[in-house]
Amino acid sequence: DVKRITPPQVRARKGGEPLVCLTAYDAPTAALLDPHCDLLLVGDSVGMVVHGLPNTLPVTLDMMILHGQAVMRGSHRALVAVDMPFSTYERSREQAFDNAARILRETGCQAVKVESGVYIAETIRFMAERAIPVIGHVGLRPQAALADGGFKAKGRDAASRAKVIEEAVAADEAGAFAIVIEGVAEDLAAEITARVKAPTIGIGASAACDGQILVTPDMLGLFDWTPRFVKRYADLKGQFEDGVKAYAADVRARAFPGPDQVYKPKSG
Ligand code: KIV
Ligand code: NA
Repeated sequence: DVKRITPPQVRARKGGEPLVCLTAYDAPTAALLDPHCDLLLVGDSVGMVVHGLPNTLPVTLDMMILHGQAVMRGSHRALVAVDMPFSTYERSREQAFDNAARILRETGCQAVKVESGVYIAETIRFMAERAIPVIGHVGLRPQAALADGGFKAKGRDAASRAKVIEEAVAADEAGAFAIVIEGVAEDLAAEITARVKAPTIGIGASAACDGQILVTPDMLGLFDWTPRFVKRYADLKGQFEDGVKAYAADVRARAFPGPDQVYKPKSG
């Protein structure tokens, strides 16, 4: 039985070989990603890319736990972290601890991630001091999409820049063992990466970070539209369409099932 990568091992990768991270939501995908990734994130992006929701705000704790269980079953090597969804950790430190503990207990995952404005730092500290490994998430915070008026890159003026640095430093000092930085320019990602002790994991945040993460269906080309920071490494949409079209044509032509796919009568 291979042991999984641990939070201290991820933390020790600061400044070393970049951390390879991707999102996963189901067991077969997790099994394909596991040999190649250091960390699998069960992101609340599941609401958008799996459940067809317009943003991540309606995602529930039960949804995250169900997907977290599936990802744990499909993987055995990578560290699995599960996102805490909107409204399950912001109200109080106790609320956050109880819900994080439920995620750890019911999925067996090794860490949780919270979108971390400065106001969440005390919550990160409360959980980290009580043995819950926590990942922070600064810059573009998708759970703030309503308040921000959409998904907007951060740090583009001096005030916003200072705010993102403050968020990252607060998460770091509070004990986050890694920090996701989303949607910021390279110079800001580089400055944050130099200032915090935790490894930074970038998404739309340049190669200056200590690791990278992308939403797996985005980077495998499942959708027509993706953010500008996504590089497509496959054409899943094209392959899906070709496969489904060929199946539909075969069925209509009675070319499927063919002789190979039909049970034979028992020959006596
Ligand atoms: O929900 C998600 O998928 C995320 C990242 C891609 C960092 O939070
Ligand atoms: Na997320």
